[in-house]
Amino acid sequence: MKIEPNRLEIFLTKIAFSLCGKSVYQGFADRLPLNGNERVLDFGCGMGTVAYYAAKRLPNGHLTCLDISERWMNICRKTLRSFGNIIFMQCESPVFMKGSFDVVYCHFVLHDLSENELERVIPEIAKSLRSGGVFVFREPLNELGKLNIVKRLVEQNRLFPKNSRITDIPVMGNAVESVYVKQ
Ligand SMILES: C[S@@+](CC[C@H](N)C(=O)[O-])C[C@H]1O[C@@H](n2cnc3c(N)ncnc32)[C@H](O)[C@@H]1O
Repeated sequence: MKIEPNRLEIFLTKIAFSLCGKSVYQGFADRLPLNGNERVLDFGCGMGTVAYYAAKRLPNGHLTCLDISERWMNICRKTLRSFGNIIFMQCESPVFMKGSFDVVYCHFVLHDLSENELERVIPEIAKSLRSGGVFVFREPLNELGKLNIVKRLVEQNRLFPKNSRITDIPVMGNAVESVYVKQ
């Protein structure tokens, strides 16, 4: 099911990005395990809030920005227009080649997906990672039920927990940030 943001949502996200971009999104992007030459997927990239900072850390790699929403993807193209290392993908049910990515991250995406969607999306993300590749997500701590479903599915798909921390994000509150490694 395709869900497009309304004008208010777009306006508020743009404000959050311009006022809190560094404290909210750059912190997460800076903690991604990158050397600069990786193939990275931003799953549910929205307007490119995290991607804007992650792309700067990939001078010899590339970042695939994927979102289900056409409207968000169009805004994302504008946010990232100055970068030459981005692949844009607007897609409802992505199917990736096995081992296409070294790192996949989701920022405030998984808690919004239904259990059925998670059962489709997480195996696809796991398949897309090379062996030794890393999956990072940050999701709101108050979505405990959803977080437990995510944890179960991630571990069922041969992704093993490396570390997990709670971050207090300005305005957005507490969130869990977890790192998994593909065996
Ligand atoms: C709350 S926004 C977060 C956007 C961005 N990651 C950020 O932190 O600013 C969630 C995003 O996930 C996207 N999304 C929701 N379901 C999706 C799916 N099944 N596949 C890809 N993107 C999806 C939405 O369109 C939206 O852009």
